[in-house]
Amino acid sequence: MIRMENINKSFGAHRVLKDVTITIKGGEICALIGENGAGKSTLMNILGGVHQRDSGRIYINGSEVEFATPADSLNAGIAFIHQELNLINDLPIFENMFLGREPVNKWGRLDLDRMRAETEAIFGRMNIDLDPKTMVRNLDASYKQIVEICRAIMMDASVIIMDEPTTSLTAPEIKRVFEMMDTLKKQGVGIIFISHKLNEVMEICERYMVLRDGELVAEGLVTDVTADDLARFMVGHDISTDVLTRQKIIGPEVLRVENLCHTHAFRNVSLNVSKGEILGLTGLLGDGRSELFQAIFGAEPIVSGDIFIEDRRARLHGTEQALNLGIGYLPGNRKENSIIKDMNVLENASIVTWPLFARQGIIDKKKQENLFAEQKTRLAIRMRKNTDNINTLSGGNQQKVVLAKWLPAGPKILILDNPTQGVDVGAKEEIYDIVLRLAEEGMAIVVLSSEAAEIIRLCDRALVMYQGEIQGEVSGDTMTEHDIMRLATGGSLAAS
Ligand SMILES: Nc1ncnc2c1ncn2[C@@H]1O[C@H](COP(=O)(O)OP(=O)(O)OP(=O)(O)O)[C@@H](O)[C@H]1O
Ligand SMILES: [Mg+2]
Repeated sequence: MIRMENINKSFGAHRVLKDVTITIKGGEICALIGENGAGKSTLMNILGGVHQRDSGRIYINGSEVEFATPADSLNAGIAFIHQELNLINDLPIFENMFLGREPVNKWGRLDLDRMRAETEAIFGRMNIDLDPKTMVRNLDASYKQIVEICRAIMMDASVIIMDEPTTSLTAPEIKRVFEMMDTLKKQGVGIIFISHKLNEVMEICERYMVLRDGELVAEGLVTDVTADDLARFMVGHDISTDVLTRQKIIGPEVLRVENLCHTHAFRNVSLNVSKGEILGLTGLLGDGRSELFQAIFGAEPIVSGDIFIEDRRARLHGTEQALNLGIGYLPGNRKENSIIKDMNVLENASIVTWPLFARQGIIDKKKQENLFAEQKTRLAIRMRKNTDNINTLSGGNQQKVVLAKWLPAGPKILILDNPTQGVDVGAKEEIYDIVLRLAEEGMAIVVLSSEAAEIIRLCDRALVMYQGEIQGEVSGDTMTEHDIMRLATGGSLAAS
């Protein structure tokens, strides 16, 4: 149905796609996988009319097509759900659903009623509990993702490109998205699914295509391979996913929270974490864990309760104070909260650490570069020059820069919200290893994640939240996907 033939693309001197040929048929879900920076988004941006190829051809049902703009691609029946979300915060959901193709009524005005009704209808069909009138700015990342998916579905596209649609979703939402994908497939829609979660690829896709360094290195039927095979195709060698070990020396308590309450996001939360410990927090969408740690970092107001750092009561009025007290915080949504789009890579990586190399306002450039060079190697960040804009890095590599900025700062407690979002299988292991080493060195670490597997892999124990309260704790034998899910949906362990 769609064929991209011998596609080449360079950014400056950097060859990003090398003679890539792929075919996508209607009625199938095809995975496009590869390491961070392999060229997946670029290839899809060419299909979506966002970027122009240097050479190669695109055919739809045998006829050659030319996409000069995203609108051309959309008109040809290709809907694109971008890796970085593309909604307008200052408009309500229903207007976002019709961006660029707003219906007008017989008086030539925007047909708001129709937009609302159609949005409501699709939410109903997809079983999504959202008011179409809600302003997009009030939605968290996962709901925004759901809105984008519904928007693509509504466009009646014959091909839908989904660039990492599940990164910020939790298990039940992912299930819902998969159900939607399945329905679309049965209706004859072709779907290109980009994901770093290989278990998802195994579950939902029929076919896979693997890019490595801009080349198509493998393709075939998912039934013929295992997730380990796919990981090997991606990185070119075996990846060990052995149980991670570390020398566990748990020291004195670093952070304690007592009966913390927020206006609406969480209530009566008490918890503590010690030096050298890795504490997990998990739950479903709307569980309040992100808001909780934003509050602990001084970025959200609290109504009542206390925060103690090393047994001293902390009265936080802002994030700067939190930084001074030794709290490091990596927010959950990279695009909106942790990347400064107009800055280059080095500047983004230096936001937290600049006191280390600036004295009386004078920046020791050499020191700044050396600090970052260390992290670049440690995290295997794939990039060109320090002075390149952060936007020119692939999604996963941006995530690594965000993590890199915290490492030299050496906070006493490091809060990581969704730390491996968009990171490829190999790099994920590297990040896990770094987190363990930091704990070994005595940092207290809090990992917020919706992936039970990640929590189990990384944490000594985990608190599971449900609708703003801590529903229970898992550790040792109860550190299982089953028990975590049970608590996350409001159940208890005693009943099992
Ligand atoms: N606008 C741009 N200018 C310069 N280089 C770019 C630009 N966009 C992408 N690149 C580079 O092209 C390469 C491929 O990037 P791309 O975003 O396609 O990777 P990806 O496979 O989607 O990775 P990820 O899994 O991290 O999202 C990267 O090295 C990236 O730095
Ligand atoms: Mg990408």
